[in-house]
Amino acid sequence: MPVTVRVVDPVEWSTDSVRLTRYAFQPSPAELDTERELVRAKTYARFSRTHVLYEDGAARATAMVWRMRQHVRGRLLPMGGIGGVATDPAARRGGRARTLLTAVLADMRDQGQVVSTLYPFRPSFYERFGYAGLAQERRVRIAPAALLPLLRLDLPGEVTLHRQTEVAGEIQRFETELAARVPGMAVYDDPDGELLATQTPEWAAVARLDGRVTGYLRYTITEHGADLDAHRFLYRDPVTRSLLLAWVARHTDQVASAVLPLPPGETPETWTADADLTVETKVAPMTDAAPMARILSVAGLAGIDAGPGELTVRVDDPLIGGVYSLSGGGTLTVTPGGTPTAELTGHGLAALVYGALDPAELALRGYGSVDEPAAATLRSLFPATTSHLVAHF
Ligand SMILES: CC(C)(COP(=O)(O)OP(=O)(O)OC[C@H]1O[C@@H](n2cnc3c(N)ncnc32)[C@H](O)[C@@H]1OP(=O)(O)O)[C@@H](O)C(=O)NCCC(=O)NCCS
Repeated sequence: MPVTVRVVDPVEWSTDSVRLTRYAFQPSPAELDTERELVRAKTYARFSRTHVLYEDGAARATAMVWRMRQHVRGRLLPMGGIGGVATDPAARRGGRARTLLTAVLADMRDQGQVVSTLYPFRPSFYERFGYAGLAQERRVRIAPAALLPLLRLDLPGEVTLHRQTEVAGEIQRFETELAARVPGMAVYDDPDGELLATQTPEWAAVARLDGRVTGYLRYTITEHGADLDAHRFLYRDPVTRSLLLAWVARHTDQVASAVLPLPPGETPETWTADADLTVETKVAPMTDAAPMARILSVAGLAGIDAGPGELTVRVDDPLIGGVYSLSGGGTLTVTPGGTPTAELTGHGLAALVYGALDPAELALRGYGSVDEPAAATLRSLFPATTSHLVAHF
């Protein structure tokens, strides 16, 4: 049976790809409005590439890659954000997703993407494609009444309420600015927020100090008496955080709880005295996956922050396999070749670059073979850190 994998155009997206993703991700059966999908496809095509696996001309599997940029140790690197991976139910468990992903990985690298991230349906599946797990986002569930003391503070700045679609450009520009400061944060290559403007409307409470956006809260109210459910809670500084929390406090007699995503290291128990809150981290296949990341080009990592040290590693990986001499002491220099003193798999390298695992753990996980002196150098080159991807796709 002739099998081809190729990047599709908006017309094919609105029929072939959407038919598969609708079945996989939406309540169904449902009618497919191909004209509406075509409009969406034309916008998406400017920010993504969609791949379809065809067998005898019939679409059997699909995957989408968003063009994004991600903060990796001080640099915003070109990143491919994989989403919408789906196989026709009749064709599942026959290796189609595997064939498709192999093609997608090579395509991302050829497009100049240096790293890739995704939210896996099952991490062990993507582990075999060289992806390493990153930390899961934590959320705080807090009764807004606990935040009422913040309303009595004399805070500078203001918060205004909008539909996120109306302020998409401003929000997107703020996120891009913030990504330069937040390790692991990813943003779409969409400087004017066109993609955000096409998404389902949500509320955006935008905080400004001296007229400049310094943070925002994007949320829905699930029901009167239920939750204020935030999908973004981003702020540049603690004053902006307090401004946004004071906004949440105004919902005391409207919702029972606010659920807010937290950046690593945030301690909501210190926000006010007498707080009544729970910090939650749920990880579950399909519905609440922790993100994963992969390196697509070792040379492309040059220039990221790296501590002192020099080491030659052999990377065993179908995409980025080879011998590389790495040296730090400020920023990373990558030179091909040398005599290797450590062995890493693709996910082993990803786990170190993203700061997710200590070098001593690599051998235990089957991610490499690193003796103690090499582990010490790698620990110095790539100190432990926590990535906060922020974007969901
Ligand atoms: C997840 C999904 C895309 C997988 O697609 P698929 O084409 O079935 O994937 P593959 O066949 O390549 O691999 C799936 C499993 O089948 C196994 N498999 C591959 N070839 C096989 C064969 N000939 N016989 C039996 N099993 C096989 C694979 O090994 C893999 O299992 P494992 O990871 O335990 O080893 C598909 O189940 C789907 O569309 N699910 C709904 C949507 C979804 O959840 N998407 C992912 C979120 S982005």
